[in-house]
Parts: sequence; C-alpha cells; structure tokens
Amino acid sequence: MLELQNVETCYGSSQVLFGVNMQVGQGEIVSLLGRNGMGKTTAVRSIMGLTPARAGTIRFKGQDISRQKSFRIARAGIGLVPEGRQIFPNLSVRENLIATSRGQGWDLAKIYGLFPRLAERQNNMGNQLSGGEQQMLAIGRALLTNPDLLIFDEASEGLAPVIRTDIWACIRKLRDLAQTVLIIDGNLDALMAVCDRHYVLEKGKIVWNGSSEQFANAPEIKKNHLGI
Ligand SMILES: Nc1ncnc2c1ncn2[C@@H]1O[C@H](COP(=O)(O)OP(=O)(O)O)[C@@H](O)[C@H]1O
Ligand SMILES: [Mg+2]
Repeated sequence: MLELQNVETCYGSSQVLFGVNMQVGQGEIVSLLGRNGMGKTTAVRSIMGLTPARAGTIRFKGQDISRQKSFRIARAGIGLVPEGRQIFPNLSVRENLIATSRGQGWDLAKIYGLFPRLAERQNNMGNQLSGGEQQMLAIGRALLTNPDLLIFDEASEGLAPVIRTDIWACIRKLRDLAQTVLIIDGNLDALMAVCDRHYVLEKGKIVWNGSSEQFANAPEIKKNHLGI
C-alpha cells in the first residue's frame, strides 16, 4: 500500500533522511523505531507532503505521491495522528471531528462508541480537554477521514498509564478491523505485541527490519540502535 524508495529529505540545507526504504502492505501494522532525532517524524512529514522528499519516490496504492500537495495525499487516503496532536483549540470536540470527516465506515457514532469520553465532552472546546482527551480526539478525527492507511506519531507519548491502555486497546481494535497502520511509539513492548513488522531508523537510514519474533531474537538491535 505504501512504499518509500531511497527517500532523502532536508530542512533547508540540513539533510535528515539519507535514502529511506520501507513498505507497508495492505492490512499490516508496521512500526518505525528509532531514538529521538533520527528522522521518524520527518519520514512521516515526507509521506504526508508536509516536508516533501528532495529525492526518491513515495508510492501509495501504486500512485507516485512524492511531489503531491499534502491535502491531496490526505484525500488519497492517508490519515495522520500527528505528533503533538494538533487539534483545533477553538472548535468543539464535535466540530473537530466533523471538520475533515469524509467517506464511508467510521462515523461520529462509531467514534463515540470507541471513545465514550469524547461523547461526554462533545460540546467542550479543544483547549478545554485533558491530554488524553486531546489524543482520543486526534485519533477520532483521523479515523473519520476513513483512511486506507493510518499513521500514528507518538500517540501514547506523555499520557497517563490508564489513557495509554485505552490508546493501545484502540490500536488492537483497528488491527482486528484489518486497518493498515504505520506506528511510531516509544513503548517497545506494546509495539512488539501489536505489530507485524518493524523498521529501525538510525541517522536517516533504515538499519534493520523484521518481525516481532526476529526482533526478540536480535538483542543487539536494541542495544546498538535503540539505546535500551
Ligand atoms: N522543522 C525543522 N527544521 C530543521 N530541522 C528539523 C526540523 N524538524 C526536525 N528537525 C531535525 O531533524 C532531525 C530529525 O527530527 P525528527 O524527524 O523530528 O526525529 P524523530 O521524530 O525521530 O525524533 C533532528 O535532528 C531535528 O532536529
Ligand atoms: Mg518524532
């Protein structure tokens, strides 16, 4: 469904990605691992067209999206739960959810079923929500675009343990629905339980990829590339 080939991305004159290669197949849950500052969010920004790749190719459902505008990439079927949530502070929960909703499958009622807390808070403004509620809102908003591929960038970061549990339960539910997901997260144990495959990014290059089982049998990867 998604394929990155030799993707190179820069911020001005500073190069961050140096030929990233990765693939996410239909129905797969794939993680992108790596220490802080290795380029994970930059890879996501390149996929979404927010910081376009300077070289290389990004294909989505067979189409070259490398040089497309970000709103077209979103419309083509990629939903993003961005790092830092980025919900609209001056819109209500309900307005945040319906602002970009489209397509068939997920609707407001199903999102409220997934996260009952959002139903209780539907008339509150975005800036009145707790961190956990904001994260649920960011996930609900992305799901309501009914994406073929959903990308999570640090969705469980900075949340209370009880809320994290909700977020992982949501991701397991998406897996059971055969949703295709690319996920970036700091919780390795949770990733190993939920993901089919993993890529490790180090200084803008993929240095390892494999299944959860292969990862468990390669302790040097953790030590050398993830600093654990
Ligand atoms: N907007 C930006 N302008 C310049 N440099 C940036 C910008 N965003 C990130 N960087 C740099 O790019 C590198 C990779 O960052 P990032 O992709 O956010 O890493 P990660 O998500 O893996 O923590 C870091 O060195 C970071 O300082
Ligand atoms: Mg990041």
